Amino acid sequence: MAMLLPGMAHAAEPTASGEFSSSDFTESDRCMQCHAILGTQWEGTMHSNAYVDPFYLEEFHAASEDTDGLVDSFCSRCHTPIGVVAGEIPPADGSQLSEIAKDGVQCDFCHTVSGSDGTGNAPFIVTPGDTKWGPFKDSNSAFHESEYLELHTRSEFCGMCHEVTHPVNGLLIDDTYPVWKNSSYAQEDVSCQDCHMTPGITGFEANPGRAGSGAPQRDHISLHSTVGGNAFVTGILGADKQRDMAIERLEKAATLDMDSPETATKGGNVTVGVSITNSGAGHNIPTGVSEIREMWLEVRAADAEGREIYAAGTTNANGGIISANTIYNNVLGDSEGKPTHSFWLAESVLSDNRIGPKETVVEEHAFTLPEDVVYPVNVEATLKYRSASQELIDHLFGEGVHEVPVIDMAEVSGAIYDPDSPPESRTQSQSSPGFTVFAAVAVLLIVYAYKKQ
Ligand code: HEC
Ligand code: HEC
Ligand code: HEC
Ligand code: HEC
Ligand code: HEC
Repeated sequence: MAMLLPGMAHAAEPTASGEFSSSDFTESDRCMQCHAILGTQWEGTMHSNAYVDPFYLEEFHAASEDTDGLVDSFCSRCHTPIGVVAGEIPPADGSQLSEIAKDGVQCDFCHTVSGSDGTGNAPFIVTPGDTKWGPFKDSNSAFHESEYLELHTRSEFCGMCHEVTHPVNGLLIDDTYPVWKNSSYAQEDVSCQDCHMTPGITGFEANPGRAGSGAPQRDHISLHSTVGGNAFVTGILGADKQRDMAIERLEKAATLDMDSPETATKGGNVTVGVSITNSGAGHNIPTGVSEIREMWLEVRAADAEGREIYAAGTTNANGGIISANTIYNNVLGDSEGKPTHSFWLAESVLSDNRIGPKETVVEEHAFTLPEDVVYPVNVEATLKYRSASQELIDHLFGEGVHEVPVIDMAEVSGAIYDPDSPPESRTQSQSSPGFTVFAAVAVLLIVYAYKKQ
């Protein structure tokens, strides 16, 4: 059934496989002759690498084999949309794919999307040709016709592909768009584009400039460096700029706070609470293929001489995570109820402890101070993220081929003192970086309110 999205004049059937030829689409290089800046932003993103991504290709070939080719056009519809509408895939080995189809989610594909039949599993309507649809109502170009489409300015545009349900059993596998839709961000009109296509990262920030050579100066031009948290594959592909931007984004997603006792006696038990708040992402952290992603807290306590008292969530030489309290992701179950990373085989959700937008979770870590402890005891907590477990990547590519980088998203620390020490000697202030942040935000708000007058 065709569903009418807000901002769409009409609904129609999604474009079928093989409806067009790849020569109906224009190479990104041609667009970049005038839209050079947007081009350098897009090149190296996971959109431009959505098909050639080696991690995707390994998983795609496994999925194709497991299902006797049943998922070939399903997976490809998002990862090489031109390949599908041009009928160049299947075959799954990619032997029939044109160069333009290997460009993944590219310029002319996104800008000849002329409508959509709702969100999820790529129900796009694409009309390749002279007209490029986009966010401007008054745009003129000598090379192409321009037309305004509200869809491009809305999260529903992204929601076409950033919502995946299992093609056979309907299990929701990637819930990025639906979670955003149910969050306060949707109510406050903070779209995917506001965070992912502006310099703001956690909200809209204007980027004044020109959309191309000969184009007029405008108050805002959307960035096309649409990055998420993928510092792994961007690194493999040598897209260092996008890798660094992904790290920066991960560093803005969450905030930590620590609740540790100011003093504790030698040989005494200590419980430290660490809270993790998803303060910056408009969806769960992690999201997307979160059954593959891993996020966890590393907590270490050491005395003044550096002797380790407690450690959780550290990694061993093989990249395994040791005694983490929780791994934040979702675990999918296969037909026998066994955990699987192969989401095409998934039939159920076994567990899901991802952290929702603006949600806070608290972990408790308990340990005993040694009798000969040297005060103060320093406690450090670091929120870690990686795109996949080292084990999965070793299994797919062979041991020692790719090291999955572990990114520090946020840190917090605290100190525990001798109860007999005079309070004024407890120099390392009882940590609350949260407080400084709140103070800074308050100051900013005051400045902002002042400026608005
Ligand atoms: C994933 C889909 C996608 C891809 C790929 C893409 N764009 Fe866009 N583009 C958008 C969306 C969405 C907007 C509007 C964003 C908004 O209004 O917030 C946009 C805006 C624009 C605009 C208007 C100016 C601006 O930046 O706001 C131009 C011009 C443009 N894109 C050209 C290009 C070119 C050239 C490429 C390839 C180098 C490209 N786009 C790749 C989705 C895409
Ligand atoms: C000969 C130069 C030139 C080429 C080549 C070119 N464009 Fe444009 N394009 C422009 C100019 C100039 C504008 C006007 C920008 C403005 O209004 O600020 C524009 C505007 C756009 C817009 C905004 C449309 C709207 O109404 O919001 C999109 C989207 C776009 N181009 C996409 C593309 C894509 C995709 C390609 C490649 C298939 C491409 N352009 C090739 C010059 C060009
Ligand atoms: C045609 C389908 C399609 C559309 C439309 C689309 N995307 Fe994507 N996007 C993908 C695919 C496929 C990938 C993953 C490629 C990969 O990792 O191999 C991706 C990757 C991403 C990533 C990088 C994720 C990471 O882990 O780093 C971000 C961020 C992203 N998209 C945001 C957006 C936003 C914002 C929009 C809307 C303006 C959008 N996408 C529209 C298909 C799409
Ligand atoms: C309030 C800002 C905000 C909004 C709104 C937002 N994002 Fe994000 N997004 C982030 C931040 C920060 C990250 C990095 C943390 C992470 O990886 O989850 C991120 C990461 C991602 C990732 C990588 C996921 C991962 O965990 O590896 C994808 C994909 C993505 N966003 C897509 C989207 C789409 C699609 C929408 C709209 C439905 C959207 N985002 C809305 C801020 C936002
Ligand atoms: C409806 C669109 C859609 C379909 C269908 C789809 N994907 Fe994706 N895929 C995405 C998006 C969007 C992302 C990025 C999410 C993220 O980064 O967390 C992604 C990311 C991935 C990744 C992670 C790549 C990386 O570099 O980390 C793999 C692997 C993957 N997809 C494999 C598949 C396979 C195999 C299939 C078919 C069984 C499939 N996808 C079907 C949209 C889709």
